Amino acid sequence: MNYEDVMNLAVRRGFFFRAVDSYPNTPAGFWDYGPLGVAFKNRYLNLWRRYLVKRDEMLEIDTVQIMPKAVFVASGHLSNFTDPKVECSKCHTIYRADKVIEEKVKHAVPEGLKDSEYDALLAENHVLCSNCKNPLSGTKRFNMMFRVGIGPQEEEAYLRPETAQGIFVDVPLLFKTQRIKLPKGIAQVGKSFRNEIAPRQGILRLRELNQAEIEVLFNPEKVDLPKFGAALDYKLNIAQGDVEPTPISVSEAVAQGVIPHKLIGYYLHLIQSFYEKVGIPSSAIRLRKLGDDEKAFYSSVAFDLEVRTSGGWLELVACNYRSDYDLTRHAEVSKTDFTVDDEGVKVLPHIFELSMGIDRSLFALLESAYRVEGERTYLALKPAVAPIQVGVFPLMGKDGLPEEAKKVYELIRDDFEAAYDEGGSIGRRYARSDEAGIPFCVTVDQETLKEGTVTVRERDTKGQVKVKVNELPGWLASQTR
Ligand code: GLY
Repeated sequence: MNYEDVMNLAVRRGFFFRAVDSYPNTPAGFWDYGPLGVAFKNRYLNLWRRYLVKRDEMLEIDTVQIMPKAVFVASGHLSNFTDPKVECSKCHTIYRADKVIEEKVKHAVPEGLKDSEYDALLAENHVLCSNCKNPLSGTKRFNMMFRVGIGPQEEEAYLRPETAQGIFVDVPLLFKTQRIKLPKGIAQVGKSFRNEIAPRQGILRLRELNQAEIEVLFNPEKVDLPKFGAALDYKLNIAQGDVEPTPISVSEAVAQGVIPHKLIGYYLHLIQSFYEKVGIPSSAIRLRKLGDDEKAFYSSVAFDLEVRTSGGWLELVACNYRSDYDLTRHAEVSKTDFTVDDEGVKVLPHIFELSMGIDRSLFALLESAYRVEGERTYLALKPAVAPIQVGVFPLMGKDGLPEEAKKVYELIRDDFEAAYDEGGSIGRRYARSDEAGIPFCVTVDQETLKEGTVTVRERDTKGQVKVKVNELPGWLASQTR
């Protein structure tokens, strides 16, 4: 099984579609969500809200996608959110410097090197244009933000490259309008935009991406609160470098200086345990501590939560200690006071963020759930995250069975994600539902009419049980919780 197998199924069943597919030559890096994909994303985000936002009493906001230039002058994105590019001297194909070197040397090249370091690697390894084999230019910088013009004056503005900036600039109003006690997580789900030089990894590297970000604001003098004690014995799968993780308890990791303090340990525990709950085995998760040449420009300590996939470790969540970098910059440039009250003391909060890539996370869940058994392909998604929890089928399209099946469907559809299907043989309907990851299929047959029972088929085992129609909602509730 590989990326292609999973994406073939995902496209076939309507999880994802290539964007603007009806037109030729649509640029890479844009994907749409189909009906199953939207349902899957919504279910996944409901769990993210339940296990992170609600459990930690965070506030969720929804901010604009287009922001004035000054915001990105302050944030540093205008000068620093760049990728290194090289151009062919003959055919003018443009490459990302690290990627074109990687192709030649066949191993990973860090993203955060200096231009002169890329130039040295290009020369040392005799890297030429992959297209026409001519020499490449020296490394230059390409800013990855999409520029837009506001109004007829086309005032300079940008599509946000991370949802986080909307949270940061709202801090003064949030504290003015809400009763907030530090530490406080502010969460946001939304689109971000990155003009990648040459995205070649399908849904794993998008120019228009979905993020679920949490920015935890805290007083740096208070990182040892009683609530963080709940996570002290939890084993974080820390990897110090590109190695297999070594589980280490939060308290040990703090004592050894692997993580700066308990607050960060607590939030790393929340995010790792979230992925375990939604269905990624713990053995396939690592929190990789980033080196200085890999960290984003605003980050002082960074961990990437990565999941093992068929294509190697895949970053799903950037966990960044951004210190007071962002709020200091916004205060300076906007000339607004970003300090807040913490029990009678004015503080400029520090920030620790959990920045989740939703598209990649959904792909990782699909891949982790992908199973082939003889002729059968199915997605072993947990009922809590499966886009559809229950399929309802009449055994045949006659003898009053469709009418009876619709009654069963109506009985459960308000409380469960349910789908009614009467098209094709029962075998074909099972096959479709297996590929959609539906954990339970309810079949209505003659016995339903005579005895008031339905047959429920469980996706992974293919085992079947008889359940009384009036007991079906309770039975499903016990299985899908
Ligand atoms: N907010 C961090 C990121 O977008 O990677």
